[in-house]
Amino acid sequence: MATDRFYDEGKKVYFAKGCNGCHGVDAKGLAQYPGLAYRPKAFLNYKLQRYRKKIADTQQAQLMIPFAEHLTDAQIQRLIIFLSNYHEEASHQTIERSIKGDGGS
Ligand code: HEC
Repeated sequence: MATDRFYDEGKKVYFAKGCNGCHGVDAKGLAQYPGLAYRPKAFLNYKLQRYRKKIADTQQAQLMIPFAEHLTDAQIQRLIIFLSNYHEEASHQTIERSIKGDGGS
């Protein structure tokens, strides 16, 4: 499965796009910003697709639009794999992780 690679790519997108600035380095949320880790894929996808179309359900959510509007389908797909399957160690010191062969299938 390509899921491991997508997970790692999603993690890179998460940090590269600055999502961590509001949703936290551990994606568990910060202050008024909601946690994203472990949320269902369908929910994350629904929200990101709507923000990308510049639809915000709350005034707060307007903040999301500039961060979502330039995401590609592939980036959204990777982000939701990373967030819904979130499994980082509590004390992760480094973002990089060697990508090992995935054993096929
Ligand atoms: C400037 C701060 C900020 C940044 C940066 C940011 N977000 Fe958000 N995000 C928010 C706010 C505010 C909400 C809406 C909370 C609400 O509706 O009350 C939100 C909501 C969400 C939601 C829906 C969660 C929910 O419970 O409603 C998702 C999914 C999400 N953000 C993903 C992302 C991703 C992925 C990135 C990076 C591309 C990102 N956010 C970057 C502030 C931010």
